[in-house]
Parts: sequence; C-alpha cells; structure tokens
Amino acid sequence: MNIHFTQSEALNLDVDVAVVAVGKALDGLQQYADALGADLEAVAKTNQFDGAAGTSMKIATLGRCNAPQLVIVGTGKGSDEDLRLASGAAGRALRALGATSGAVSLGQCNERVVEFIAAGNYVFDQFKPEKSRRSALTELHLTSDTSFDTSAALVRAKWQSLNRDLVNLPAADLYPQSLADWAVEHLGSLDNVEVEIWDYERLHQEGCVGIIAVGQGSSQKPRLIKVSYRPANAKDHIALVGKGVTFDAGGLSLKGTPYMQTMRCDMGGSAAVLAAIGAAAELGLPIAIDTWVGAAENMLGAEAFKLGDILRYKNGVTVEIHNTDAEGRLVLADCLIRACEVEGVSTLIDAATLTGAVVVALGEDYTGLFTADDALADDLAAASDKAGERIWRLPLHNRYNAMLKSDWAQIKNVGGRSAGSTTAALFLQHFVDGPRWAHLDIAGSTFHDKAGTEYASGATGEPVRTLVYWMESLA
Ligand code: BES
Ligand code: MN
Ligand code: ZN
Repeated sequence: MNIHFTQSEALNLDVDVAVVAVGKALDGLQQYADALGADLEAVAKTNQFDGAAGTSMKIATLGRCNAPQLVIVGTGKGSDEDLRLASGAAGRALRALGATSGAVSLGQCNERVVEFIAAGNYVFDQFKPEKSRRSALTELHLTSDTSFDTSAALVRAKWQSLNRDLVNLPAADLYPQSLADWAVEHLGSLDNVEVEIWDYERLHQEGCVGIIAVGQGSSQKPRLIKVSYRPANAKDHIALVGKGVTFDAGGLSLKGTPYMQTMRCDMGGSAAVLAAIGAAAELGLPIAIDTWVGAAENMLGAEAFKLGDILRYKNGVTVEIHNTDAEGRLVLADCLIRACEVEGVSTLIDAATLTGAVVVALGEDYTGLFTADDALADDLAAASDKAGERIWRLPLHNRYNAMLKSDWAQIKNVGGRSAGSTTAALFLQHFVDGPRWAHLDIAGSTFHDKAGTEYASGATGEPVRTLVYWMESLA
C-alpha cells in the first residue's frame, strides 16, 4: 500500500472511493450535502446512519464528484477509540467496494489511523469463489495538515497482515513443519536473523518433553522453531515465546464439535511472536531478540499422550497430566525453559491462546496480561494504548498455586474450575527463571468468529502491534 498525503478533502480526489467523516448527530454532514447538491440528511435517515463511531453509509455520487463512490463514516465524539473504529470502518468499506485507490479524510491523521485502515482493509478470501473476492487497496490518499513518515506504520501493518494469513490458514495447510517453513521463508533472509528448526529427533535429544507429548498423537510430528535477531549495538536482549498448536482437538480429552471448529487459531501466539520479530528486524530495532515457538498438533491417536502420564521437564519440574486439552502450557514450558537458559535475557514475554477462561473473563476484545512486574505491566499497557489494542491485567497471585498440587508429581496440568487463566499462568511461572516475565493470554483477542467493526471475521493480528510498539519503546 502506498500512502500519499494531501491537504484536499477526499471528495475532490480522483480515486475509486472517497471516505469522509461526520461526527455524532451527523455533525459536519452539511458540507458534503452542499458539495454533492444532495439531501444527505434524508439519505442518512433512510440508512439509519447517525454518525456513531465505526458505522458507515455508502453513497453513489452520480458524477457529482471525482470519486464514483462515497463512504461516510461516523467518528462519534472523536476520541482516540472513536478514531480507531472509524479508521477500521474506512478500511473495511474500501475493501467491500473493491477499491484499489482510496482517499480518506477523518479530520485527524496519525500512524494508528494508517495501521487501522490497513487492518480494516484485510480479508482472508483465498478460498472464496473468484467472483466474490474484492481487490485490496494499493493507493491510499490521506487528508492531513502535515505529512509524516509512514514507513514504520506500514511495516507494523504488513506483519500484522502476515500474521492474520498464517492464523487463518486451515490446519490441513498449516501444521508444525509448514509453520517452520513459513518462518524460514519469511524471516530467514532478513538482516541479522537466523532461523533454526528442531525436528522430532532433535526434540527427543533436547528433552522437550512437553512438545513431544502434545505432538506425538499426530502424524504431523512437532517442531521447535527458534528465531534469533542479533543486530549490532543491541541495547537490550529480550525473548519471545509463542504457543504454536496448529490444531487443538483436545487430544484424548477430546473437545466437542462447536469448541473445535476454530481451533486452527491455536497457533496465534506463535504467529504473533514470529510476526513481531519479523517487524523488529525489518525496522532494524537495536535490541537482540530470541523467539521460541513450540509447534505441535494436539490430536488423538494410537501414540497420543494419556491422562496420568507424568512429564519430567529439563528444569526438574514433574507434571502429571489431568487433561490433555490443557496442552498449551505443556508446549510453552519447554520453550520458557530454553528461553531462560540464554545468557543476558532481561525480559521474557509469551503469547498464547491458552484458556477459554480468559474469554469468559474479558470477552473477545481484550488480551489477558499476567505479570508480577508492575513496570513491565505499565510498559505493555502503554504500548497497547499506542497500538489501539486492548489488554487487561489479571491476577498472578501465588496463593492459587495450591490448585496445581498433584498427588503423583510436583504439579498437575490443570487447576480447577475457578481462576482458570490465573492457574494456567501460574503453571507457566514454574518454568521461568531469571528474566522479568509477562504472559499474554490471547484466546479471545487473536481470532474473532464473526466480523466486527474493525476486523473481518477470523484472525485479528492482535497483539502483534502491541509487541512491536513495546519493543520500539526499549530501543
Ligand atoms: N486452545 C485452548 C484455549 C482456547 C479456547 C483458545 C477458546 C481459543 C479459544 C486450550 O488449549 C484449552 O483447551 N484450554 C482448556 C483448559 C482446560 C482444559 C483447563 C480450556 O480453556 O477449556
Ligand atoms: Mn486445549
Ligand atoms: Zn490449545
């Protein structure tokens, strides 16, 4: 997507679709009515459009302005949140109309507007019939008093979009080895980046008992994907860990059909950290990053791991299996141990579609944040604010560790019915030693079954941009 700044109103530009904004109670509509010589208030009434943030209406301009189609989006009261919704709606409307060139005047313009127009413009339609597919935007004209450098925004948007393609891919196409291939293809040739893949045999040699247990029931055997970015003059050294369960059937603790339908999204954490390191490398951020992804398919088969099995991890912790559907934490544990073994890592962040409980607690629009480090929590919250992605901190209190006690091993892999996201996070904490650490539970935020205001249905690309903004704050 190419960005062009202009001082003129979108309405005057020679593009496929012009997008303009009105505030709540149709504030500002009259100027467009005058320009078109049309009673837009009546049109708004028929369309039940009132300028609420993120709503829109489409108007054929019948030769009264350069663009054949006009979209009016609501910016509500004009808050940051409203602007986010309006930008997303603009991007979505442009895609729905198949505009390859578009002009957008929202009254305000910043990096986030660019990122949300790009995010709204995304759809995953490669399996749809040709005739229902719509072109993506290639030329975007933005009305702005001042022009600014959009290269970083476009890098963030690009990796968010790559993340969404990866998460949306069906499990038939995306399995541990093909996820590894993706990492080699998209990250392997970036400057200062190295990709290493551990195959099944190597996982055994290295004692990655969790990744092996979860993945052994599938004919698509598990992998560990290690990506390191080592720029010269690094100011900091961080590690990222991602859950890469390419399909979560639940294993022997089999999920019911409705819960299994979207479980191709269970590698959302891995896609987030792979995209984040890709963006960091492309931006040339002066921080060293190690990314660790445990990739496995959680299936049931003759070789599947079983209830009552006990895993002995490399750090000495033993884990009794009470539910094979609590598999993400088992896979992450191996990665967390390895991430902490590297000398000099100051901060460790993991991202995982870990628990249904976080969706019950926060809904689909928030990522759950768990950390004992207040400063890190503040920094991540600030980054998510910048990104316009929502995160909310939940407790990580040691008192709930009691729920993980096992009669047969040190801990078991499930807590109980209550505080399920917290006990999952506490489980992970057993494998973190050294760096300050935050866990992001993205079970709700990374994949939306239905389209919303900002995102088409499917992968959202969250929290890629939060991670990128946070890494930029370290640089
Ligand atoms: N992948 C799921 C969590 C999930 C749920 C992700 C909904 C995305 C949307 C995870 O592996 C899982 O099955 N968790 C169980 C844990 C339970 C068995 C302790 C859950 O949440 O029910
Ligand atoms: Mn599961
Ligand atoms: Zn899972």
